Amino acid sequence: MLEEQQLEGQQPKEKQKLTISNLMESVSSSEKPGQDVVIGLSSNPRYLPPKYFYDQQGSQLFEQICELPEYYPTRTETAILRENGRAIAQATGPCEIVELGSGSSTKTRILLDAYQQAGYPLRYLPIDVSDTMLTETAEKLLQEYPQLSIHAIASTYEPALKALPKKQLPARMIAFLGSTIGNLLPEECDKFLASTSETLEAGDYFLLGIDLQKEISILEAAYDDSKGVTAAFNLNMLQHLNQRFRGNFDLENFSHVAKYNKQESQVEMYLESMMAQTVRLEDLDLTVAFEKGDRILSEISRKLNLQEMSSVLSRHKLTIVNNFTDTKQWFGLLLYQRVA
Ligand code: AVI
Repeated sequence: MLEEQQLEGQQPKEKQKLTISNLMESVSSSEKPGQDVVIGLSSNPRYLPPKYFYDQQGSQLFEQICELPEYYPTRTETAILRENGRAIAQATGPCEIVELGSGSSTKTRILLDAYQQAGYPLRYLPIDVSDTMLTETAEKLLQEYPQLSIHAIASTYEPALKALPKKQLPARMIAFLGSTIGNLLPEECDKFLASTSETLEAGDYFLLGIDLQKEISILEAAYDDSKGVTAAFNLNMLQHLNQRFRGNFDLENFSHVAKYNKQESQVEMYLESMMAQTVRLEDLDLTVAFEKGDRILSEISRKLNLQEMSSVLSRHKLTIVNNFTDTKQWFGLLLYQRVA
């Protein structure tokens, strides 16, 4: 069921409206809860979908990861945005911003500032699975940007893209920042790009953050930091499954492993069983036996190549406006335009 809420500012001068659409109920009712866990833990090799990282504790740990000295992607992408926000606004002209996985919209503020400075109208359509996060962030943004209008959608990406309201400005830009695209398998990535491109009309824009290939030691340190925050983030997935499906994973009996797979150009995170053990997830009627050293793949984080990505995007009718990057070429912020 689609639920829509209009929240009006309390002060008479705050005339703009905040619209929040909640698609989460219809999204979650379409599949049996936890089927993906049963399939993943019964597969060989075992895996778990990365969405299980993000309970409340996991989201907080991820915020901490973004601040770590070893985790370069967030600060590098932020610096690229700061450096090029104006150029992006100039290239697109007045444009509404749709953001996939908006979270606390920290980086988006840089874009909003650039559009504001250019004197353009501000319209923002954040999409996130957490309706609490969407509401809290939207309310703060409305205070910070008096001209802004927001239509927030609580949803996973694909249903949200299908449910976007009619465009109100001359152009629309879908932003997918943070290199989250790297967490998708190549076939998932292709499907995602196809539906994103289909959502855009000719002349609309796509802004994509991608993490680029670099020295292995830098990559492995980013996913296995000295404070152990990433290890806690990875292990928290088991705690989340315990809570969600009445499981008995003992976190002490698993360790965090992060390795760069050169052949696949991806960092792989695993949860490794430190002993022979049996784990039960009551609500899923699932028992899993582990030998010492058995691993569960919890995440891939692909490290991409600018030229290859450029040609993938062109196959999806997206043509280059500019590939922005940092001096070390560690991260790419790709601005593309949908062709007819
Ligand atoms: C969300 N995503 C882009 C992060 C990444 O770098 O792949 C998730 C992450 N996993 C461990 N550290 C960060």
